[in-house]
Amino acid sequence: MTKSASNAPLTGQVAVVTGAGRGIGSAIAASLASLGARVVLCGRTREPLETTAAAIQNHGGQGSVMECDVTDLHSVEALAQRVERTFSRINILVNNAGIGGGGGPLHQLPPDVWDQVLNTNLRGVYYCMRSFVPLMMRQGGHIINISSIAGKNPLPNGAAYAASKWGLNGLSCSVAEELRGHNIRVSVICPGSTQTEFSPHGGMNTEKMLQAADVAHVVAMIVTQAPQSFASEIVLRPTQKP
Ligand SMILES: NC(=O)c1ccc[n+]([C@@H]2O[C@H](COP(=O)([O-])OP(=O)(O)OC[C@H]3O[C@@H](n4cnc5c(N)ncnc54)[C@H](OP(=O)(O)O)[C@@H]3O)[C@@H](O)[C@H]2O)c1
Repeated sequence: MTKSASNAPLTGQVAVVTGAGRGIGSAIAASLASLGARVVLCGRTREPLETTAAAIQNHGGQGSVMECDVTDLHSVEALAQRVERTFSRINILVNNAGIGGGGGPLHQLPPDVWDQVLNTNLRGVYYCMRSFVPLMMRQGGHIINISSIAGKNPLPNGAAYAASKWGLNGLSCSVAEELRGHNIRVSVICPGSTQTEFSPHGGMNTEKMLQAADVAHVVAMIVTQAPQSFASEIVLRPTQKP
């Protein structure tokens, strides 16, 4: 990470990253801060968010912690109000918070697990867009939704997770059309298996797997595009199958 400087490309911009305490979200937050953005780190658990914020600050970046549960509309609305009060703007919203769906066939999946998965991975993105888009409309910006290759392919024994991510892809490309006239570019990234704490990735060669920084690099590319350019969907694969 480089120190943020006044000539960094995102200087003056405010970015909100959900699920920023670890894994892909933490890498995205660090990357955006290194590009000069003031980054708001969100998640349900304060301690890992503080750790990410401290790492950002140690590298000369600006990161602040605001706890939020994306499944709770009041919590998301309170976050948006706090961001508006603190910064009066949002330029970048990264909807990254997500959970896996437990294993096994769909007909054995408990309904409460279905609800947790869909409420986090899909409804949570709706709540964040609903709460932040009016503020972003003031000057335009980027919304980046972290989906999955499981949103493009069948995922037997992970149908609820796949449904949430297929839904997220449909939501993203539909809202992209709603918001492009408002100078807001809505993009979706579909990474393959990435080395984080998200799932055990049993039997995979971790050296060949995607790293959280690889997803963060794609986010950085999206938010530094020229104004006329709109990378709307990016499928991110490892070079070799892990
Ligand atoms: N790792 C992979 O192989 C992979 C591949 C493709 C796509 N993805 C997607 O990438 C995203 C990040 O995954 P990851 O691998 O970094 O997972 P991770 O290491 O498990 O991190 C998930 C983050 O989401 C937060 N979170 C979960 N539920 C939340 C809620 N209700 N409200 C707010 N924050 C919440 C967690 O923090 P708290 O628990 O503290 O709230 C955590 O910081 C997910 O959307 C995932 O579906 C992952």
